[in-house]
Amino acid sequence: MRLRVLGTAAGGGLPQWNCACPGCAGARAHPERRRRHASLAFESSPGRWYLVNATPDLGEQIEAHPELHPGPARRHTPVRGVVLTDAELDHTLGIPRLREGRATEIWATPTVRRALTDGLGLDRVLSPYTELRHLPIGSQPVPMDRAESGSVEISAVAVSGKRPRYARTLDLPERGWVTALCLHDRATGGSLVYAPAVAEWTPELDKAIAEADCVIVDGTFWDDDEPARNGLTPTSSTAMGHLPITGPEGTADRLTDAPGRCYYTHLNNTNPLNDPASEENRVLAQAGLHVALEGMEIEL
Ligand code: MLT
Ligand code: MN
Ligand code: ZN
Repeated sequence: MRLRVLGTAAGGGLPQWNCACPGCAGARAHPERRRRHASLAFESSPGRWYLVNATPDLGEQIEAHPELHPGPARRHTPVRGVVLTDAELDHTLGIPRLREGRATEIWATPTVRRALTDGLGLDRVLSPYTELRHLPIGSQPVPMDRAESGSVEISAVAVSGKRPRYARTLDLPERGWVTALCLHDRATGGSLVYAPAVAEWTPELDKAIAEADCVIVDGTFWDDDEPARNGLTPTSSTAMGHLPITGPEGTADRLTDAPGRCYYTHLNNTNPLNDPASEENRVLAQAGLHVALEGMEIEL
């Protein structure tokens, strides 16, 4: 299974359009520090690609990678659809950008699907333009392609009950809001866990990570105090639904035991890892951990 990292930034991207913080200013001055919104593409069977989360950068993310380009027929696209880890705006605003397509598969938990329909009104708004084909993700692995050539199985592990702000008052289940996505290629045996938001390190997540060849997880904040210190909110990283990289609840200590390759993604613009010269980058590398590179290819 081929994977392509399409972006590694939290909501807003790096730089964020209305932000002059040191991280955003640094990315304006040094374009190599820029990060698109966190997203991934994977090939479920030859020539069939799925985007994991549909970001506001979706169009540019497709253009940046030839394997996602249309052709040879004028309106043939290898992009079959989108797999969602949650219903947050930074992971769903790209769905309307796919409206020129004839039909798009949307893989999500039943709760996330309801958020798209009842909260964002996506089915109602997009039905005059295109067809959204909803497919459920749950704890049991299911094959993504019916064709014999397809061998990627998909499943999800719950990592948080945190709702997007727009969905706070909706009458929807408490479960199924944020998941870690698990992909398993039966042909190669390769497996991936992708979790750009992790509020809770559950035994199920621990087990999935212990079995994965590659893990790409929430690196939104370096430490728990980072959002408050930067004046984002008075609450901690953990309270925002993102376990920090370091500290008592830090994910770095857990990942150093993981057998597979581990990368961080979904970096907020306040994260000191955005400055390649920072001490934090040295500390992370010493622990054998890395931030995923924009555009990197992974073969599993
Ligand atoms: C998150 O990752 O917590 C959300 O995307 C926050 C947001 O952009 O509203
Ligand atoms: Mn986000
Ligand atoms: Zn900023």
